[in-house]
Amino acid sequence: MELAALLNKEHDEKRQGEAFLTANNANHNSKKFYIESYGCAMNFSDSEVVAAILQSDGFQATAVFEEADLLLINTCSIREKAEMTIRKRLTEFRKAKRSNPGMLIGILGCMAERLKSQLLEEEKLVDLVIGPDAYRTLPLLIKEATGGQKGVNVLLSREETYGDISPIRLNSNGITAFVSITRGCNNMCSFCVVPFTRGRERSRDSISILKEINQLVDDGYKEITLLGQNVDSYYWLNETTGVPVTFALLLEQAALVSPLLRVRFSTSHPKDITDDVLHTIAKYENICKCIHLPVQSGNTRVLQLMNRTYTREWYLAKIDRIRMLIPECSITSDMIAGFCTETEEEHLDTLSLMNYSNFDMSYMYYYSERPGTLAARRFTDDIPLETKKRRLQEIVDKQGELSTKSNQNDIGKIFKVLIENNSKRDQHDWTGRTSQNKITVFPKSNTAEKPGDYVWIKIYDCTRATLLGKIVDQA
Ligand code: SAM
Ligand code: SF4
Ligand code: F3S
Repeated sequence: MELAALLNKEHDEKRQGEAFLTANNANHNSKKFYIESYGCAMNFSDSEVVAAILQSDGFQATAVFEEADLLLINTCSIREKAEMTIRKRLTEFRKAKRSNPGMLIGILGCMAERLKSQLLEEEKLVDLVIGPDAYRTLPLLIKEATGGQKGVNVLLSREETYGDISPIRLNSNGITAFVSITRGCNNMCSFCVVPFTRGRERSRDSISILKEINQLVDDGYKEITLLGQNVDSYYWLNETTGVPVTFALLLEQAALVSPLLRVRFSTSHPKDITDDVLHTIAKYENICKCIHLPVQSGNTRVLQLMNRTYTREWYLAKIDRIRMLIPECSITSDMIAGFCTETEEEHLDTLSLMNYSNFDMSYMYYYSERPGTLAARRFTDDIPLETKKRRLQEIVDKQGELSTKSNQNDIGKIFKVLIENNSKRDQHDWTGRTSQNKITVFPKSNTAEKPGDYVWIKIYDCTRATLLGKIVDQA
């Protein structure tokens, strides 16, 4: 198993999670599809668009893959390990197809884009290969594949945003939902495969975004996360009003939909997050005080090789600015250990940057070379695996310290928590999150609070990943 960060566990489990429709309103004669999603939130959000396209083509969702007529796997290429996991899963799907030869197997998403015909021809693993910008052609490709041909469309688009499609919420708790605002990425971080698998960045029109948010509020949702690889570069010109919509303005418009709706967003790029965005976060109580600001490395030379376009000093100045304008904001990050040519001293710079920044949580990885990326073409992947793993472990340990310290600082404080679910460990407890995105567990009271309600919680204890509290009267 990839040496995944301990603090990553929850995130990784979610990444591996199966997604399926829980609502079942289609008729019993319709064909059934099963979809499983891997990778980032964008992929989970895309699966909801795919579900909508399939439902309007007469398909009904199933949670049991063996009974599906169409088996879809929405894939991720970000690291080699992610692709290996998916290949293993495809082999299991092939076994199901042996007992049901009419079944179609389709691969969607970033791996479909990266490997294109290789999956179809060389490995004969699948019947359909569909890239992230081609989901509207699914019904046509399914027809082709049913007729015995292979259905392939991996064309990337400069315009497609699926803005007019109302996603069908998969595996939903009815409280939190993703809303995509941009697709693709124009940054060329040298380690990253995303610009190749998802194409050029484009912003979805703000009218359809706000329509979707309003619908979610009408349906009782209490929290949305605006999604994009680089949300701060959101830009859409409303040609009717002539008003350019920046990310700061979109955030404000989303916050104004309802004071009862929490607004989150991910991911911010350190070079693009503006003071306007920070002031907007500070201004609205319902914009969550949590910024995910991936740094990748704490050393300027390595950052340059990574083509991140900022220096260590620039990043630290951003941290200072956030702390100044939004003192209660949590800051989380991503780190890559053992990038090409990284020295021991440069690795120590990452640890010292983490110390200064006091990250509340991080996603941590060791470098995995991706074919076709700038780094794969220009640099040698020269850090031995053992060294990468050891450096990653040091980063994980450092984050463990920082997360514990951050949580201990919350003891005695009172937070507004949105209840999301029963606690997995104890049915007598609820679990929810603070505005800072910290998971909080607390005993149910005798009053009638329920998932979707906001409660005030006083923190009396913590673990590295969870705050433990009790319901109190409003702060
Ligand atoms: N767009 C976001 C950003 O710029 O920070 C995140 C994109 S990526 C989906 C999520 C994270 O995966 C990155 O922040 C990076 O830490 C990690 N990552 C990307 N490519 C990687 C690679 N080749 N090896 C290891 N980790 C990688
Ligand atoms: Fe990849 Fe960089 Fe774009 Fe993030 S900003 S998706 S790391 S290229
Ligand atoms: Fe993976 Fe593609 Fe997301 S490579 S991380 S699913 S954009």
